[in-house]
Amino acid sequence: PTRIFSGIQPSGGLTLGNYLGALKRFVEKQDQGIETIYCLVDMHAITVWQDPERLRHQTREAAAAFIAAGIDPKRSILFNQSQVGAHAELAWIFNCIARMGWMGRMTQWKDKTAGKNAEAQSLGLFAYPALMAADILVYRATHVPVGEDQKQHIELTRDIAIKFNNDYGVNFFPVAEPVIEGAAARVMSLRDGTKKMSKSDPSDQSRINLTDDADTIAKKFRKAKTDPEPLPDTVEGLADRPEARNLVNIYAGLSGTTAPEVLAQYGGAQFGTFKPALADLAVSVLSPITTEMNRLMADPAEIDRILGDGADRADAIARPVLEEVYDIVGMVRSR
Ligand code: TYM
Repeated sequence: PTRIFSGIQPSGGLTLGNYLGALKRFVEKQDQGIETIYCLVDMHAITVWQDPERLRHQTREAAAAFIAAGIDPKRSILFNQSQVGAHAELAWIFNCIARMGWMGRMTQWKDKTAGKNAEAQSLGLFAYPALMAADILVYRATHVPVGEDQKQHIELTRDIAIKFNNDYGVNFFPVAEPVIEGAAARVMSLRDGTKKMSKSDPSDQSRINLTDDADTIAKKFRKAKTDPEPLPDTVEGLADRPEARNLVNIYAGLSGTTAPEVLAQYGGAQFGTFKPALADLAVSVLSPITTEMNRLMADPAEIDRILGDGADRADAIARPVLEEVYDIVGMVRSR
């Protein structure tokens, strides 16, 4: 049976990249009637220091974003990671399965330590993918919808599942599939078409936040970096034009179409025409979500109740799986 798991770090406000690459997909999977489990990974967030009050706020705000975007906490399980201890417990076992060399080869680790002293990073940041594997495998999830940047981590999750099964001579963990779909699986920075749009980019101009108002969204798209040429008629014409390609992909992602379809409509248009159309589209999609997020954030106790209920239901699936794992590895369980 198909079971979907995915997660988002509440380490900052969510961006248009998180929305198009992940959240929008999460809602589609739920609406297809698939079993869906979605997690705000607060334990991952603290691999780099987080201000405690901000972390709490951002976790609730991310939950509000999920619900505002269409996640129904009755049909999906929505919770924060730290409330289900099985994630951290399984992560420890995976720390003993995974090899240091595997972790050192992760491009996200390499990017985050590039030009910095890797010795000064937290041990948690290095081991991060083992916790991610535990998130997925503690539910024995089969499919993991993510943006392009998480593909390598899912491959590592598969390696951990395979090595665990081999080391213990069992066929216990499924080999989970990444699900990377849509025109906007890799949304790039509005300031640099070769860098991914990220909640941790120091420049707020580089991203659209789900909390941005209509004027801010319009202004960010107006100021987005582009080249001086009009849009091409075909996607081949976007080849060496990363900023143009990014804006076309964002338009396709927001409208639920494809880059060729967008170019069929806007090929030959100048950015002076395309950017306002893109901004209008973005506002029409995002502003109802932002409004609903703000409404939900007025009642944080209700958000906490939803996360607690989700954690109870998540725990009911995860705990028995973890007990089986403890049994497989040879732990005495006598209480
Ligand atoms: P995170 O919090 O960086 O991003 C959450 C999701 O958003 C996607 N995403 C993007 N998609 C398209 N364009 C972008 N610019 C963009 N930026 C982010 C990510 O691919 C991701 O799907 N390690 C994960 C969180 C995690 C997780 C998991 C995911 C922890 N455990 C288990 C799946 C399964 C992360 O840091 O995502």
